[in-house]
Amino acid sequence: MDYPVAEPIREFLGNLVATSDLGYLGPVPELAPAFVDFAEKRWGWTPDVSHARLACDVGVATVEFLRAHNVSRVIVTSPVYGGFWHWLEELDIEIIDVPLTADFELDIDGIERQFADGVGHMLLCNPHNPLGKVFGRDALTALAEAADRHGAVVISDEIHAPLTYPGTEFVPYLALGEEAERTGVIVTSTSKSWNLAGLKAAFIFGHGVRGAELLKPLPEAMHWRSSILGAFSMVVAYREGVDWLDSTIETIATSSQHLASELARLLPAARLEMIPEAGYLAWVDVSGLNLGDKPWDRILEEGRVSVVPGTELGPQYLQHVRINFATSPEILTEALTRIAALAAPAS
Ligand SMILES: Cc1ncc(COP(=O)(O)O)c(C=O)c1O
Repeated sequence: MDYPVAEPIREFLGNLVATSDLGYLGPVPELAPAFVDFAEKRWGWTPDVSHARLACDVGVATVEFLRAHNVSRVIVTSPVYGGFWHWLEELDIEIIDVPLTADFELDIDGIERQFADGVGHMLLCNPHNPLGKVFGRDALTALAEAADRHGAVVISDEIHAPLTYPGTEFVPYLALGEEAERTGVIVTSTSKSWNLAGLKAAFIFGHGVRGAELLKPLPEAMHWRSSILGAFSMVVAYREGVDWLDSTIETIATSSQHLASELARLLPAARLEMIPEAGYLAWVDVSGLNLGDKPWDRILEEGRVSVVPGTELGPQYLQHVRINFATSPEILTEALTRIAALAAPAS
């Protein structure tokens, strides 16, 4: 995000530097109560984080979890965050793509067919990157029930959840009841919502005895490889960063409206696939702009605007790009104006 980091976090980091408190990370007992309090106020849900494990980022927590469980096949739901594709390259894992349906819902029947076929793990992205979609309670419950019927495990990446806009209900996977508690772990961090990705800290947790069992094989060193700056900044974010978060959500929700109206004005041939319900990413079909085989290359090289290639989110998305709209309205308008200057009329 193109916005200044929350003042309490900047002050905290300044103090760590000023007092030379930059050694290895020890225990972080403050994290569990800080996250529980945040989740109770935000989502009316009390997570059980007694078995939470720290990692340097969500990617490492996920990869280590899959590695520790000797996973060989994983379901993803394209179009989906490029990390899901790239992280798995580290492991000898076959990616099974069950794309979202045409109206951007989870294809529960398709997912269940894969569970029935013995695929035991799924990476759920909720809220969904790149769409900004927040899956509803019914869809998530159906997913948990399907996973439970086949003894599958859902790794729910909820990193964008704190950025859910007012008027949309975000339901954490582990808040769905017994089926979800038997089948799920959540990976999350403050790195996206408070713009701290460079600080390197995240955590993974499951509920109760089942959660403890799922997390037990994770390597102990995963915790120590996380950063003292990141781990304690998460505590400050959950405790003291909520006003900043709320005002940032207002800003990005307004920015998403600006993006939608400016796309309609400047690039009417491009299609915003969905008005986001969370986060600051937009999924745009640019096939109508006639920018050639790799539209993102022309947009970068000639327009000097950086977008994420659709193919990063699934190999079939040859004419989609992902736009980050967490910036000022002026920059967004300038970016779209430059893209519009490249667009060729249909021949
Ligand atoms: C859904 C999702 N998960 C994970 C990440 C990366 O998180 P981390 O840097 O903690 O690995 C991102 C970053 O964009 C993301 O969008």
